[in-house]
Amino acid sequence: MKSISKSTAEKLYAAAKAKGLTSTKADFVYSKEALDYRLSLLQDHFPQNTLHAIAIKTCSEPEVLKHIASKGFGLEAASIEEVKLAQIAGVPNNKIVFDSPVKTREEIKYCHEFVKGALINVNCFEEIERYPADFKGKLGLRINPLINVDTDKNLNVSKLNSKFGIPITQKDQIFKVLTESNRFTAIHFHIGSGISDFAPNLKAFQVITDLASEVNAIRTKKGFKNKIDTIDIGGGIDFDLESETIGIKTFCTALKEINKNTDFKIVTEFGKFIHEKNSFAISTVEYITKNTPESHNAFIHIGADLFLRKIYSQMDINYPISVLGKEGEDQTYRIVGPLCFAGDVLFESVKLPFLEEGNQIILFNTGANTISMWSRHCSREEVNFVFV
Ligand SMILES: Cc1ncc(COP(=O)(O)O)c(C=O)c1O
Repeated sequence: MKSISKSTAEKLYAAAKAKGLTSTKADFVYSKEALDYRLSLLQDHFPQNTLHAIAIKTCSEPEVLKHIASKGFGLEAASIEEVKLAQIAGVPNNKIVFDSPVKTREEIKYCHEFVKGALINVNCFEEIERYPADFKGKLGLRINPLINVDTDKNLNVSKLNSKFGIPITQKDQIFKVLTESNRFTAIHFHIGSGISDFAPNLKAFQVITDLASEVNAIRTKKGFKNKIDTIDIGGGIDFDLESETIGIKTFCTALKEINKNTDFKIVTEFGKFIHEKNSFAISTVEYITKNTPESHNAFIHIGADLFLRKIYSQMDINYPISVLGKEGEDQTYRIVGPLCFAGDVLFESVKLPFLEEGNQIILFNTGANTISMWSRHCSREEVNFVFV
């Protein structure tokens, strides 16, 4: 299932309701079948030995994480709390990737003792000395390849002032670290999120594989046993599933071509591509107020608490909207959330069928960076999560 249509949403919601899983206010419905489809795309197109560590931050619901783990996939953790979520979900250590840029000494000790074999990506030179010489994880060095990428400024992490990774302008020092000892066996990069043209990702992969090959040549000369054997390419790409030419197949073919003589093991950390289209949010309409004959406010039970990026940032995020069991464009509505501030508006102006108390608004493609970012403003109860 590439995405959830209105009729599929209505069926999934009816099934969840029949099982008593829904709430009277709002539900966040996540489809297992849609998740399986996305996961299968990674399996079908990337090299077979790729470790796909799905980004927990994008959707951290324990049931979803457990399902991902049960299918043999890994998880990428952006904090020690997410490392623990991955462990609870049943992911074996060697499929956990830990990427926080602010790992404390205690967190590193926890990984050394309890997450043996996990890939731990070191974010900066200053972090390196915190790892014991006999560290029990697999060490990766995060490098910022400084590749221009066309995405929202908040999601572009490949600039020179980025807090993520060591800029490749410091190549001499990177080389020194990677060739004076052989403790690092992986290199990681992630250039940004929300990327539809993946040419910059391929360019970054080329730059990093070249660098890793140079490092390995020096290590061979020095007689070191361990080589760089893994490249973690991060996530960030929103593959277009309707396109044969710019889709996942083309990306993977190009990736394999770059890697054909080097044969590095690939690690991925996709988030949005996996989760976005697998979910819809549905809320009861509580009130409709008519401030003027033209302006009708429809109040629902989810707003800036669930859709933080849409409401608080300038990002261009458009969730398709519909009304359960109704069709038409009879009236223009302003769809407002439940929180106590004027900006809690999901749609300033949208044409919908006539609404009344008790109707249900559906918002599609809500699976990424929504429920995992839930805001406690006004202390409202968290939206009811349904995994069907
Ligand atoms: C290091 C890292 N990996 C993976 C991801 C997931 O990115 P996306 O959801 O765009 O695929 C992010 C997103 O912030 C990230 O920072």
